[in-house]
Amino acid sequence: MAREWWRDAVFYEIYVRSFADSDGDGVGDLPGITARLPYLHDLAVDAIWLTPFYPSPGVDHGYDVSDYVDVDPMFGTLDEFDALVATAHGLCMRVIVDIVPNHTSDRHPWFTGDRSRYVTVPAANGVPNNWPSNWGGSAWTLDEERGHYYLHLFAPQQPDLDWHRSAVRSDFEDILRFWLDRGVDGFRIDVAHGLVKDATLADEPEPFPAVRLSSDWRRAIDQPEVHDVYRDWHRLAAAYPGDRVLVGEVVFSDPRRVAPYLRPDELHLAFNFSLVFQPWDAQAIGGSIDASLAALPVVTWVLENHDVERIATRFGPREARAAALLLLALPGPVFLYQGQELGLPEVDLPDAARQDPIFNRTHGERVGRDGCRVPLPWVRELPARSWLPQPPGWGELSVESQSTDETSMLSLYRQALALRPRGSFRWRDAPGGVLAFDRDGLTCVVNVSGDDVPVGEVVLASEEIHATLPAGAAAWVRP
Ligand code: GLC
Repeated sequence: MAREWWRDAVFYEIYVRSFADSDGDGVGDLPGITARLPYLHDLAVDAIWLTPFYPSPGVDHGYDVSDYVDVDPMFGTLDEFDALVATAHGLCMRVIVDIVPNHTSDRHPWFTGDRSRYVTVPAANGVPNNWPSNWGGSAWTLDEERGHYYLHLFAPQQPDLDWHRSAVRSDFEDILRFWLDRGVDGFRIDVAHGLVKDATLADEPEPFPAVRLSSDWRRAIDQPEVHDVYRDWHRLAAAYPGDRVLVGEVVFSDPRRVAPYLRPDELHLAFNFSLVFQPWDAQAIGGSIDASLAALPVVTWVLENHDVERIATRFGPREARAAALLLLALPGPVFLYQGQELGLPEVDLPDAARQDPIFNRTHGERVGRDGCRVPLPWVRELPARSWLPQPPGWGELSVESQSTDETSMLSLYRQALALRPRGSFRWRDAPGGVLAFDRDGLTCVVNVSGDDVPVGEVVLASEEIHATLPAGAAAWVRP
């Protein structure tokens, strides 16, 4: 059997609202994406992941789906989706779509209808337990008219489905088939570890952590039955030709908790978020790489997505360049988030502009994720409308500006993606604060915070260097 395409692939996440706007309404759309596919092809991206573009009231910008088998008119039509897939395939790029099985929108007919597919508890005995929403407040909302509480790990407009019910399972299999029949190459599965809840509804241990990006602390999810769902989905995907891929969003900081999802008959890939949780510290990053390689059969590498702070802000602009060379030298599939290749910083938006439900539900205590979702700047002259305001000066960061600048972040990503090393991975001895490893024919040296290190023949560097690599810089060198 040939090696599956996804084992070394570079995936590029497209946050549909913010990628490319073809009709000037300030919101990205599917024709906008299709028109920009050659850009991604030139970048040497192997596959795109589209965030939800299905009909949705938009409370969580598409992660509240009211119809799983259509396109929201704001983003286009099914015909335009088909054209996008055909164009991508014509450019030898794969397309995976986001599936949101943990919850629907509260406007979904399953919820406005009899609600038999949801986790509900009769109201008589009061709030069922202490489970909190990931975004502040209780995970239970009382519906007085219906006389029950319903569960929502996210916003109240995102009621959780009850995966103990067979109707939910068969409905989702139909949904997967619908998109596989249309030619998608796989799925990114939202909150993949969360679908099945502890049926005893036992309380969670308190206190709850203030930051709840990972699910490390939640006992009610990550239940054994969730693995049956993925065994079924694995069989379903395997019945289609072309190595369709299932990528789970399984959010634990310890890769050992992700590993069970990657058993041979379950998901093919899962995001390995362990690097996302690391500071710019050689020991922390090195330890996270080791732990990931030791725990997981296929390790994916992720530094950014639409839920976390941009690395140009998290690590700093120079460090973000060094991190790019680290990321693209690691063995296995890589996930890039749109704008990472431009070095976009997190945007500090005015409160009035913020739209993420996290901001409102926590009364501004947590600013939410809008800062990494500001629409991509394509051209120097910024468009008149944009659903989140692009800061002044962003024209300089645009694809147009960076394309002609050999020293830009975009040029660095282009070169690194073209030279991306293959082969086995081996650490090298390195001084404190420095990470160094070999792949076939290349050594990647990242000086995180050490003294200047001498390097030999440089193939690619994160900045102009003169014989030695300073802290905050990285290089690919001939061993
Ligand atoms: C996932 C998505 C996030 C969304 C949440 C609820 O974590 O990445 O953007 O808000 O699920 O669907």
